Amino acid sequence: MPIVKPTPETIAAAAEALRRGDLVAFPTETVYGLGADATNSRAVARVFEAKGRPRFNPLIAHVADLAAAERIASFPPLARRLAEAFWPGPLTLVLRKRLAGKISDFVTVGLETVAVRVPAHPVALALLAAAEIPVAAPSANRSGHVSPTLANHVLDDLGDIPALILDGGPTAHGLESTIIDASEHDIVQLRAGALPAEAIERFLAIRINRAAEAVDPATGERPIAPGQLASHYAPGAPLRLEATHTRPGEALLAFGPDALRHDGSTFNLSPTGDLVEAGANLFAALRKLDASHPTAIAVMPIPDTGLGEAINDRLRRGAAPK
Ligand code: TXA
Ligand code: MG
Repeated sequence: MPIVKPTPETIAAAAEALRRGDLVAFPTETVYGLGADATNSRAVARVFEAKGRPRFNPLIAHVADLAAAERIASFPPLARRLAEAFWPGPLTLVLRKRLAGKISDFVTVGLETVAVRVPAHPVALALLAAAEIPVAAPSANRSGHVSPTLANHVLDDLGDIPALILDGGPTAHGLESTIIDASEHDIVQLRAGALPAEAIERFLAIRINRAAEAVDPATGERPIAPGQLASHYAPGAPLRLEATHTRPGEALLAFGPDALRHDGSTFNLSPTGDLVEAGANLFAALRKLDASHPTAIAVMPIPDTGLGEAINDRLRRGAAPK
């Protein structure tokens, strides 16, 4: 059983395991990550192997602070302002990779950019500080499945692949970090996440383009996070979105005070209609409803503002044909 309580001793052991090239699962404020030494190609390759992750999908490098991030990536002025304002926190910045940073090409899948973040979780920060290496960490789930928000979710998906699973309890946000491409002058949101775009827009006093809207005028191409696959975050049962009634055999993912009446398995993401609470509950709710083997999971409509943007993004991908 690789799940351990985080103590100075287990965190030191986890840091040692990372430095040896082993994999370690650890809590962040968003979801649990499956960490590997980002400078060790062999260790990073094991992450792809363990998750069954497509090789074209790059990983996020996690570091303890902005100084460590600056060793692996170059920060244009806007990127530095965002890092200073929102790190540690659920914001991932895609930046130009610095060769001196020694990040393995397996992390960036050969791209000239690298995704970096400083997580706001005491256990993650203690681990990064002790390991003294950048740690490549995708969400600690099988590729395509919903992300883990509890140590037991990691165990269910990955068994004893991680040398250790540091158990930090339920993650605070329950949704992955927001990804912003800040490598160029024009910043673009590649993935909606735990930091609402509105918060960044308020801070910068500009509107941020979403990846789907931003088209490169030179090439006509859309910038995307290569991992933003149509089908992702998918439970076993199909999702039926915008449900206004339920059918026999279905489970119900409800939201708000006016939940539909339903006889079978039901989970209300937030009876008061609070999007922060709903985000924190989303993935655990999907896993729980899935366990009752429904014919489908009917999902009530969820407002598309604030964290609703990230919640609806995950639900749409979960509902996409596999
Ligand atoms: O909250 C999170 O971000 C969690 C925790 C563990 O930090 N991590 C996470 O990692 O969600 P993952 O691997 O599940 O998602 C990383 C996303 C993928 O969609 C990937 O395509 C994108 O980041 N990404 C990584 N490097 C990139 C790059 N250089 N350019 C564009 N997208 C990149
Ligand atoms: Mg993931």
